[in-house]
Amino acid sequence: MVNAIILAGGFGTRLRPLSCTIPKPMFPILNRPLLSYIISRMIKEIHGLEKIVIAVNYRANDIKAYMDEWQKILNVDIIINEERRPLGTGGAVRYSKNILDGEQFFMLNGDVLSFFSYQDMIRFHESKESMATISAIHVKDVSRYGVVVANDNGLITEFYEKPNTPELKEKYGIRPINAGTYLLEPEIFDIIPPHKKVSIEKEVFPRLVMKRKAFKYEYEGLWKDLGLPEDYLEGNFMILDLEQENHEDGSIMSETAVICESTDIIPPVCIADGVKIGKDCEIGPYAIIGEDCEIGDGVKMKELVLFDNCLIDNFASIEHAILGANVKIGKWARIHGPGIFGSNVCVSKNVTLMGSKEHPIKVCPWKTITRESLEAIVSNPMFFH
Ligand code: GDD
Ligand code: MG
Repeated sequence: MVNAIILAGGFGTRLRPLSCTIPKPMFPILNRPLLSYIISRMIKEIHGLEKIVIAVNYRANDIKAYMDEWQKILNVDIIINEERRPLGTGGAVRYSKNILDGEQFFMLNGDVLSFFSYQDMIRFHESKESMATISAIHVKDVSRYGVVVANDNGLITEFYEKPNTPELKEKYGIRPINAGTYLLEPEIFDIIPPHKKVSIEKEVFPRLVMKRKAFKYEYEGLWKDLGLPEDYLEGNFMILDLEQENHEDGSIMSETAVICESTDIIPPVCIADGVKIGKDCEIGPYAIIGEDCEIGDGVKMKELVLFDNCLIDNFASIEHAILGANVKIGKWARIHGPGIFGSNVCVSKNVTLMGSKEHPIKVCPWKTITRESLEAIVSNPMFFH
């Protein structure tokens, strides 16, 4: 028997202003919450999975409301454990001791898409008689992650969280990073102090390394931490690439979507229930359109994610952006990201917004942007709040 805990309580700071109204685990991946991807994969893969704890804090009610509905059809116990204040990655798992104690358990960062074999990880963990097995993968830039250094036997000899100075990057650049899934034995609770904020990466893993109790489970394949807007887009496109292979024409299209014949759909795209698209549009490649979005005539859209209920008026053009729920884009508006738009934002007709890597467009929820308001902005021109 094995249990699991998903950490889903972070603030999602780097995904603001979109995360002001929706917690990161509820961000859609091909129109389904990220959390549901993670849970479905675990249920499918892990034999004898008994219960899943979801450790929540920020916007806990959004996660509870979703799970209340969904868990009715799941054949595993889902327990939502809410911290009164954020306890950090180590404190959150310690806070679930009473629920998890006695069995080995997986611990997962709730903002990661990964595709390794859970069963293979269990086999590895048991063969090493490990107390903590940390999944690891190679990425180009290690500085945003925890670095795992191990010997030939897989025993971790060093764990370093976020080596972000040039010297540290140089030192750890060739190492694999912590991929955000751990398999832990209940003895781990003995070394996490209760009732306080603890970072598992900075305070617990280094201690386990000293005790020679932690092993690295390295794998190759698709992996993405969705912490930044760019990662979130790439994560969606990665899953779109994967799933479009099961569709003949490369498009994942709801049967209830209504699309005018003269509109050009350039795969891969994913179009949800109730979407309406007018005539002479160019949609895709890499357009993911949420439920009940309405798109007028002559609209051009690519490399973007639209949450539910967005309205895009005639001849607007949008590229490389994330639009929160209920965003309205006016006629002839032109948006060239990178850009991230909070829910209920309204961009008036004829407005042009151009983002760049250094200055992505960021618009706070409920803001209206008109040509006049744009002219009034002097500093930080692409952050609207
Ligand atoms: N319940 C709870 N309480 N969850 C939390 C808290 C908290 O106080 N703080 C963070 N979390 C959750 C976040 O929601 C996220 O799912 C997970 O813990 C990791 O936090 P992030 O803020 O996303 O961390 P990171 O991406 O900078 O780094 C972590 O993930 C990397 C891999 O994706 C570290 O574990 C790195 O070592 C790792 O490489
Ligand atoms: Mg993260």
